[in-house]
Amino acid sequence: MSTAIEIALHEALNSIKERVVDTPDVALVLGSGLGAFAEQLEDAYEIPYSEIKGFPVSTVTGHAGKYVIGKLGNKCVIAMQGRVHYYEGYSMDQVVMPIRIMKLLGAGILVLTNAAGGISYDFNPGTLMMITDQIASFVPSPLIGPNIDSLGKRFPDMSHIYDIKLQEVLKEVAKQCDIDLKQGVYLQTTGPNYESPTEVKMYRLLGADAVGMSTACEAMAANHMGMRVAGVSVITNLACGMMDKPLNHEEVKETADKVSKQFTILIKEFIKAI
Ligand code: HPA
Repeated sequence: MSTAIEIALHEALNSIKERVVDTPDVALVLGSGLGAFAEQLEDAYEIPYSEIKGFPVSTVTGHAGKYVIGKLGNKCVIAMQGRVHYYEGYSMDQVVMPIRIMKLLGAGILVLTNAAGGISYDFNPGTLMMITDQIASFVPSPLIGPNIDSLGKRFPDMSHIYDIKLQEVLKEVAKQCDIDLKQGVYLQTTGPNYESPTEVKMYRLLGADAVGMSTACEAMAANHMGMRVAGVSVITNLACGMMDKPLNHEEVKETADKVSKQFTILIKEFIKAI
């Protein structure tokens, strides 16, 4: 018997599948202020989320809200220019719906990107961090509810959420492009508020290097479906209590803008090298 989530997924899929001409090889999620990367895709066409049946639509500035499909080298890429977040009021299964659709369209690899606050003392605003693992214990799992057996199994292993081979490729590409790519653990909060200084201290004690309001739940849903996942955080600011001024979303977008050149080179060469 199909669950309500499964029915919603297939309705969304059926409403766009004819519009997706090539089978995507790689799915890409572009984080806050990083959406301009989609301009790199050749022969690109767009599907606004608002045209997809039952799809969640992003309400955040800096998040455009559409799929952009096009070529990078010999690969077909489906990019999400804008994602939806749990803090917008969507349920976790709605939040990960766009990820699941990209897998159902054929993408076996998922590249997740985001803007994040730096927790590690080794990071500065503008640092690029390859995600090696994550802490998702502060948000509900997107896999709660009846298991969708057609997507994956009930108790999925999470030993290597971020694919080891993809991490090797990413490091090698960064080296070749002379990009100082740091590594670390990403922690997801629900948002929309930034953290308190004491929460940041706690997250550091728990082993987190960066904090943000997305990504971990998407990586979990992708892992459940057997996708190979890679992740890159753009550290747009140091987390609360590490700088002597309050945080704001404008600053997050401005820093993301400043590093967008390096970010673009890294992600473009990475996708070509996979
Ligand atoms: N905290 C949470 N999410 C974020 C931050 C932060 O400091 N910066 C960008 N996204």
